[in-house]
Amino acid sequence: MPDVSEAGLPVADLLDLDRRHVWHPYGPMPGRQEPLVVESAAGVRLRIAGESGAGGELVDGMSSWWSAIHGYNHPVLNEAVRDQLGRMSHVMFGGLTHEPAVGLAKRLVDMSPEGLEHVFLADSGSVSVEVAVKMCLQHWRSLGRPEKRRLLTWRGGYHGDTWQPMSVCDPEGGMHELWSGSLPVQVFADAPPTEYDQAYADHLHDLIGQHAHELAAVIVEPVVQGAGGMRFHSPAYLRVLREACDAHGVLLVFDEIATGFGRTGALFAAEHAGVTPDVMCVGKALTGGYMTMAATLCTARVADGISRGEVPVLAHGPTFMGNPLAAAVACASIDLLLGQDWVTEVKRIEAGLRESLAAASELPGVRDVRVLGAIGVVQLDHEIDMAAATRAAVREGVWLRPFRDLVYTMPPYITGDEDLARIGRAVCAAAREG
Ligand SMILES: Cc1ncc(COP(=O)(O)O)c(C=O)c1O
Repeated sequence: MPDVSEAGLPVADLLDLDRRHVWHPYGPMPGRQEPLVVESAAGVRLRIAGESGAGGELVDGMSSWWSAIHGYNHPVLNEAVRDQLGRMSHVMFGGLTHEPAVGLAKRLVDMSPEGLEHVFLADSGSVSVEVAVKMCLQHWRSLGRPEKRRLLTWRGGYHGDTWQPMSVCDPEGGMHELWSGSLPVQVFADAPPTEYDQAYADHLHDLIGQHAHELAAVIVEPVVQGAGGMRFHSPAYLRVLREACDAHGVLLVFDEIATGFGRTGALFAAEHAGVTPDVMCVGKALTGGYMTMAATLCTARVADGISRGEVPVLAHGPTFMGNPLAAAVACASIDLLLGQDWVTEVKRIEAGLRESLAAASELPGVRDVRVLGAIGVVQLDHEIDMAAATRAAVREGVWLRPFRDLVYTMPPYITGDEDLARIGRAVCAAAREG
């Protein structure tokens, strides 16, 4: 086990600097939990440096938060980045355009639900949600309905960490309390039940009708609520939302940032219901996990509404918009995905997770075990001890990031059957010891 990181800095020094200077997601400053130092990654394995208990390699059960669907250090994606790097790494997008961005927009339009025609390239998932909200509010403002500026969502959701996305995250998640009085106040329906329930469908319909005069849009994660609780729901609710939004003159936004690019077994989760939203956000796996990039797609109707306004432009333009490196690798990642039988691969992972997680339902403290596509979830009846659960998974040779009452995995699609079984053992170990 090397105790010097690949860059040459002793691991202990690197960790000390990290603790003193570097914020980690949802972390205190200075840091209290020691992160693992990743030296390199290839295929489904992360190579860990140092003596801090976990030397060697870990099988990645997280796809770096849903993004690395093809695994790490993929020759095709590496080549796409290298090739683009030889041309240009970046140019501004105002007044200029380039083939990677145009090619990416064309691919997204071709592969997404029928009717989504226009693409705004953003720099992260949260920003793509901000752009989606801005599109919807501006659409109504341009049509002379500026009072339609609130959003409706259901509880249990997660849409990112910037301002508008935070306002539609699950209000029980802590962030709302912290920011109450500062965040926009949105309209919340109850969390969607797993199975179809007519009473819940009526509740959605009624609430949308009741608030239609002030609603710009309904925004939800379709079929799978991710970081808000890893819950699955009947796709039939998406049809209910579509009907209610159409009936009451409200736009519908699907946040496919986690669910997009095959994760649930359909290319986009909207396909499970055959519904086209007015606006759709994608991110995470868009670049195969190589670089940060997201996109907001919309229909011609939404764009047309905006163009009729006093200010007929979409007033948003990030400095790194359409970054050619990210766009080039996104094109390569999409081609890689569509060029293989990804449906069979995701089904294989689904079957492997069902088999390897079955044992978890026998464990004390386990409330539910659920699998959909390449997503496996074990829900406990108590808050997990994150450090103990992570250690248990690492002892099994797997990287997991349990949180709240959840141990979950969404492995890269290239994960082999033996590694899937190993991930299953690690999830069970984390659920037992966490
Ligand atoms: C459904 C959903 N929306 C939005 C986001 C925010 O994306 P990002 O972290 O790239 O800003 C996430 C990230 O976890 C997500 O899962």
